[in-house]
Amino acid sequence: MTNILCIGAGYVGGSTIPIVASHCPQHRFIIVDINEERIAAWQSDDLPIYEPGLDEVVRRTRDKNLFFSTDVNRHIAEADIIFVSVNTPTKTFGRGAGKAADLQYWEKTARQISENSSSSKIVVEKSTLPVRTAEAMERILNSNGSGLHFDVLSNPEFLAEGTAVRDMENPDRVLIGGRETESGRKAVETLVELYANWVPRERIITANLWSSELSKLVANAFLAQRISSINAISALCEKTEADVSEVAYAIGLDNRIGKYFLRASVGFGGSCFKKDILNLVYLCEHYGLPEVASYWEQVVAMNEFQEMRFASKMVASMFNTVAGKKIALFGAAFKANTNDTRESPALEVCRALLEERAEVVITDPHALENARDDLGELAARVVFEPDPYAAAKGAHAIALLTEWNQFAQLDYEQIYGSMIKPAFLFDGRNLLDHSKLYELGFNVYPIGKPALTHLHAK
Ligand code: UDX
Ligand code: UDX
Repeated sequence: MTNILCIGAGYVGGSTIPIVASHCPQHRFIIVDINEERIAAWQSDDLPIYEPGLDEVVRRTRDKNLFFSTDVNRHIAEADIIFVSVNTPTKTFGRGAGKAADLQYWEKTARQISENSSSSKIVVEKSTLPVRTAEAMERILNSNGSGLHFDVLSNPEFLAEGTAVRDMENPDRVLIGGRETESGRKAVETLVELYANWVPRERIITANLWSSELSKLVANAFLAQRISSINAISALCEKTEADVSEVAYAIGLDNRIGKYFLRASVGFGGSCFKKDILNLVYLCEHYGLPEVASYWEQVVAMNEFQEMRFASKMVASMFNTVAGKKIALFGAAFKANTNDTRESPALEVCRALLEERAEVVITDPHALENARDDLGELAARVVFEPDPYAAAKGAHAIALLTEWNQFAQLDYEQIYGSMIKPAFLFDGRNLLDHSKLYELGFNVYPIGKPALTHLHAK
């Protein structure tokens, strides 16, 4: 039996380790976190994150070979392998503020591991980190004079929220980076063996530490770049009566381009894309590559443009004023099937509408609580309404901002009947049947397609 510890019970640690535990009944897994409330929630029936299928996996493994605890020091002492998935937010102060990763939690964790260890261990970077972080971690871990040896591995997480269980059960690839020393190779092999309990060997790839660390940032940058590219084209489509879905379909059939991640939207969100690209930008600047830095920075700039363009289009279409108008936002989560609202475009649109003094009501099946927290002081000016029919009642407009399947199933005839006329619907995800909504009487504004409006009729 191997004792496997995970430090950090957030979205990354909390949604990966239970699945590893379910495939490795021969090993003992502990997830620790400094946040007592979070650990209590993991031990309850009401898990702190909404992730389809995760409840079931946790129920099957918890208190068998998976345990949750706040006693970080004790469990460090007992562990053979330690996954670290504490948060690495964008720095808000000092050098690199707004771009570089804030590594204070990582460094604190490394010191904590070093202070509480009485045996050699493998430490695995699960959090997304700037390239060459492992070097600093090795120095901290191996410099306390205890004679212990720590191998640092990089094993970036590629799962997406909302499909975490599926992505982890059946990953496209597992990437493990390590040192090319004898002990480094042995550590890599130990981790390969762990994944080989359910992942086919040919999908477990190994690389040097720096390639592995950098690959995570680059994977997210490439994915985000595709969305910014198609979103840039969506703006042009709206000017030219081309249809962005038709363009995306036509280009995606070219195998060299591929069909994924070409859905034009109000913008991308989530904890990773913006943070990781800015981290990449900072690294490029640090290494004296300003042209490379500004190339990638445009991916983020285009996303901000798309979010603001959407909000501006709402105001412009509604006779250039939304002051005092009730507007229902359908969706707060940054995408469907998660309660996560970090960097959610929905909240950006919300902020822009509040600036214009609209009366905003937000409805979302799982993310209202996080939306309230993320909006901070602005939350006092927003109504949070779990029922979409109540949210839309008496509203001038609906803005659909998260592609929840529930929103496609609603009775829009009833909703139209309860709204102020002319009724507007802005579909930031191209989720709904636009011609049907138009026939019901709505003025419909999709992304990257001609608007369907009764207002400027010939
Ligand atoms: C975060 C980042 O967003 C992601 O890019 C990175 O790869 C991993 O960390 P996530 O799991 O979504 O991913 O973050 P979060 O939900 O904030 O979870 C981090 C957890 O670590 C929190 O529960 C926090 O309490 C815990 N933590 C943080 C510790 O246990 N110890 C610390 O010192 C700091
Ligand atoms: C992402 C990566 O996909 C994952 O591999 C990495 O581990 C973490 O970051 P995640 O942030 O959970 O995962 O969500 P993802 O599915 O990538 O979506 C990110 C954002 O892009 C969402 O706001 C989503 O709505 C948006 N998106 C996605 C689009 O607007 N259009 C698309 O075609 C795809």
